[in-house]
Amino acid sequence: MSPNRIIVRTPATTANLGPGFDTFGLALDLWNEAVFCLEGQETYVDFTDSSASAGQLPTGGDNLIARSFAFLYEKQGLKPPSGVHITCTNRIPTGSGMGSSAAAVLSGLAAANTFLGNPLDQDALLGLATELEGHPDNAAAGIFGGLTVSLTEAGHIITRRFDVPPFCVALAIPCFYLPTRAARAALPECVPLKDAVYNISRAVMVVEALRNGDLDLLGQVLSDRLHQPYRFKLIPGCLSAQEAARSAGARAVALSGAGPGLLAFSAANDCPAVAQAMQQAFEAAGLACTSFVLATSRLGVQVEE
Ligand code: HSE
Repeated sequence: MSPNRIIVRTPATTANLGPGFDTFGLALDLWNEAVFCLEGQETYVDFTDSSASAGQLPTGGDNLIARSFAFLYEKQGLKPPSGVHITCTNRIPTGSGMGSSAAAVLSGLAAANTFLGNPLDQDALLGLATELEGHPDNAAAGIFGGLTVSLTEAGHIITRRFDVPPFCVALAIPCFYLPTRAARAALPECVPLKDAVYNISRAVMVVEALRNGDLDLLGQVLSDRLHQPYRFKLIPGCLSAQEAARSAGARAVALSGAGPGLLAFSAANDCPAVAQAMQQAFEAAGLACTSFVLATSRLGVQVEE
């Protein structure tokens, strides 16, 4: 018998990882939780007091979790349930570059799939998430956990998941409104061949460095010429936060997804100082800022019936 109440936990994710624009995803050990109950005659979403985004997000059928939930039913040719109550505990800050929208999309899709008796496998869920997100990188890491490499070929997503040893990462999230749409609009349509070669070679090395826990190699290759140079200019304090991170012991620093957050890899005992240094640099540039010290996650989305 299908359940009428389930809990979905979705991890934060960071995308791109320097040269892997729209390709790499990495799951982080920070989780949103959503409780879905089939009850009543309408869709409503509420937020627990501890939610990062309480008061900022829609509470009806236009909420991204609710839309993703209905989307899966519709894709299956079914009418969504008339009444769904979704209670969210959001720990992933919205608009941060930590995959909050992918987490919302996966939460809705995973819940709908579970209520329907799991007609879709993980690859099919990723296909739907990519339709909603526009790119597969955060969603892939959110589904599979670990490090993911994704691409679209002939309309299909091909993803591979790689185990990575536990890394400690520091993130600084400045309070700066940079919608992904705007961060993508800042990118050129064409790039010089030498920049493409720069990224191809480093992207392969990033996978090798992460799989082997090799911070020395990561520090040499976690750089990018396809998106960061254009996006750094949009975010006040970003370059000085990157420098501050390095001075505090970071071995490699990248924009987290489309930003505005910055992601730094370092030895675990340097991570708190790196997070603090980045936060202070953003604050010195006039932006309020929060920071996180997180482990990477081997797990992706979890459903509890
Ligand atoms: N790969 C995407 C980008 C991640 O950089 O625009 C943002 O969600």
